[in-house]
Amino acid sequence: MATLSRGNKPPAPTPSRTPGKGVKSTQPKPSKPANTAKQTPSKDPTPRKGGLRSERLRALPPFLFNAIDDRKRAAIAAGKDVINLGVGDPDQPTPRFVIDQLITSAQEPKNHQYPDCYGTKRFLAAAAEFMHKRFGVKVDPTKNIVATIGGKDGISHLPLGVVDPGDRVIIFTPAYPVYNQASLLAGARVKKIETTPANGWRPDLSTLNESLLRATKLMWLNFPGNPTGASIALDHLDTLAARAIAQGVIVASDLAYSEIYFEQGPSSCPSIFQCPSVDINRDAVIEFHSLSKTFNMTGWRMGFAVGHADVVQALKQTKDNYDSGPFNAVQEAAATALERYDDPIIAAMRTEYATRRDIAVAGLRAIGCQVTPPQAGIFVWARCPVESGAGENAGKPMSSWKFVEKLIDEAGVVTVPGAGFADTAASYVRVSLTRETPRLREAMERLKALKF
Ligand SMILES: Cc1ncc(COP(=O)(O)O)c(C=O)c1O
Repeated sequence: MATLSRGNKPPAPTPSRTPGKGVKSTQPKPSKPANTAKQTPSKDPTPRKGGLRSERLRALPPFLFNAIDDRKRAAIAAGKDVINLGVGDPDQPTPRFVIDQLITSAQEPKNHQYPDCYGTKRFLAAAAEFMHKRFGVKVDPTKNIVATIGGKDGISHLPLGVVDPGDRVIIFTPAYPVYNQASLLAGARVKKIETTPANGWRPDLSTLNESLLRATKLMWLNFPGNPTGASIALDHLDTLAARAIAQGVIVASDLAYSEIYFEQGPSSCPSIFQCPSVDINRDAVIEFHSLSKTFNMTGWRMGFAVGHADVVQALKQTKDNYDSGPFNAVQEAAATALERYDDPIIAAMRTEYATRRDIAVAGLRAIGCQVTPPQAGIFVWARCPVESGAGENAGKPMSSWKFVEKLIDEAGVVTVPGAGFADTAASYVRVSLTRETPRLREAMERLKALKF
């Protein structure tokens, strides 16, 4: 069986054309030819210095899930019943009212043509209304909002629109990997600032000094966060935003999990535009929203970005050159979803996630993990149990790669190692709550049988 990287870090990028052991190559595999008679497996079809992939691609770290997927596939091939608590992809269906709207809208021939690429009138109005009703934020739907093909589309394209090669971009880690990768693809110099458990995985304000900020073009924020589940109080968010804005930094906030909140209610997931220091008409701030998690719509690819008109315009201009917007029928269905963001079905979804959170927290604690129950989002973030025995690591928290390997191999349970996100998370693990409740319960039962 392939071995996951053993150190504190994820597998190193593979500079050569041969993938490292246990690491799936990010290089496209030669596709199987339809007629194999004449074709032999290709050598590099462009035998130039550096090989087929661009320097930009070769500079990216490998996709975190590749190494885990290899391990998972091996477990499945060995006949294991695998429970995947790795990826954050909701198991619950999209609400019926959204599907019904798609069916109606898909039957309209006018929707079969190129989409309204920046957003249909109805979608933009629904997004603006959502911002107003949910956060009390008033925006101009045509100037301040653009429809995106899921949150990832907007997030990944923003740096191309606002960052020049060599510009500094700040990312607080552990973080959703796309902030880093998209910034690198735009040629940025990424400054990763590691957060720690001592600060609840939130930025320590002392790490943001004036000279660093003055030399920075863009700063990413994500609360509730992936992978840590950390949420942020409005005054903390306000201070962060104010400091960055004062030095001319563009602030990009990712609010993908805004509607999955628990005991502390909706105010635990504030919009950056609720901050007293932030003015959408004055400050270079943009916020990314997604329908993926709130409405169980990951497969539909729908979201929106809202922000200062010039920042939104830069994103529109970038996207103009990459895509033609989301399918109009999907936009209409997404408008219906946003119009009903306070539907009881969404409240029921939150209750289900809270139940799952409690099951996961109890199960992880039972095997010696340290866990702070998250107040929002779809992940539980836990410190691995301490190693027993007399080895050199005895008494220390287990490395997350080792823990994740053990869980897959001995319990058929897939999780994500924190080491893939940041050095400070080398002994942390991310557990997704997007599996059916009985399956999650079963996963936790299986863990109890393991010895650490
Ligand atoms: C923090 C965060 N932002 C954005 C996304 C992108 O989601 P989507 O493109 O499905 O909207 C994800 C997906 O996992 C995420 O975790």
